[in-house]
Amino acid sequence: MSRIAPIVLAGAMLVTQTGCGDKRPPVSPSPPTAPSGTPGILAEPLRDAARASGKLLGAAVQSGFLADGRYTGVLGRHFNYLTAEYEMKWDAIERSRGSNDFSRGDAIVAFGQANGMQIKGHALVWHGSVPGWVGALSAADLRAAFEAHIQSVGEHFRGRVVAWDVVNEAVADDGSGLRDTVFRQKLGDQYIADAFRLARQADPQALLFYNDYGGEGLNQKSDRIYSLVQGLRAQGVPIDGVGLQMHITATNPPSDANIAANVRRLAALGLSVNISEMDVRIRDVPGTPPMRLDVQRSVYHSIVGVCVAEPRCDAVTFWGFTDAHSWIDAQFGADDPLIFDAQYAVKPAYFGVLDALSRR
Ligand code: G3I
Repeated sequence: MSRIAPIVLAGAMLVTQTGCGDKRPPVSPSPPTAPSGTPGILAEPLRDAARASGKLLGAAVQSGFLADGRYTGVLGRHFNYLTAEYEMKWDAIERSRGSNDFSRGDAIVAFGQANGMQIKGHALVWHGSVPGWVGALSAADLRAAFEAHIQSVGEHFRGRVVAWDVVNEAVADDGSGLRDTVFRQKLGDQYIADAFRLARQADPQALLFYNDYGGEGLNQKSDRIYSLVQGLRAQGVPIDGVGLQMHITATNPPSDANIAANVRRLAALGLSVNISEMDVRIRDVPGTPPMRLDVQRSVYHSIVGVCVAEPRCDAVTFWGFTDAHSWIDAQFGADDPLIFDAQYAVKPAYFGVLDALSRR
């Protein structure tokens, strides 16, 4: 297991080793209790609390932001797990067929390694990130391109990522069945099992996840995700875990009990679970801005707390970390969904996460 110093693979589960091997740049101890508004660069490092709780704490990043010292300062201080928000996706890597541009994914890996972080690849097969040239391919040609993509990307990052979101969002939103995508239309339902087998061949060590949204608690969609991964396990397909994206609103978050029950039933299949893309929208929360921020703090506290309490939940990743950079604004309208504000200062949500990781 030479390549993953601070992480030990135990039964296909990511576990941080407290205390040793974490190559983190030295940080000066932060003041005991930092009020909201404290610069993130001075606040108590969340990654220390995460390591003490045996969990990984992650953030989605884009290479373009790594030139910003405020961004990298807060990222390096508080997180020990990185996911590429966009630049390891098929449409970002293979803009024209046969020529892969790994430079931006490599930049993210290099930053992670320089800061003692683990990296998760995202996402090998997703209908939302298919290069334009794929649409015109015949079924046979798509099969060839599909296999070449998983193989080339998996092999390129082999030994430098500890996990992959192999298949993303393949279940229909109403849970009625599989989502109708170009992969399903031309490669059949089998494409999901094929993707996992190809990923395992390309990187035998990486943990392989199925990732989706809207199935965090107990509902028709999570039931369909459950039967999908249960079937894959029964067929002996190499799948190691499930990612619960957790793009939620503070007005209607899934209940802790439902999330915990969903995590436990997936764990009973021998799978590990991670919260993979969390952000919490607050624009519709009634009341004053401080009241909205406090509701957000309690949502982050309770949901991160579920992961801390569940032995088979091994990581929580936020889809970004500062309100300066979030996909939410473009998709749902201006909002403040993350735990650091646009000036990289801590928000009440930061304390919700810190307290949850510290089991308080
Ligand atoms: O980097 C280019 C830039 O050079 C160009 O000028 C600009 C304008 O076209 O586009 C930039 O690329 C954009 C990229 O985000 C970086 O900002 C892509 O067009 C845009 O499609 C891409 O959006 C990403 C989206 O997935 C599609 O890949 C979002 O950042 C990312 O947050 C979002 O993440 C998804 C997860 O992968 C899966 N779950 C849902 C989640 C939100 O949609």
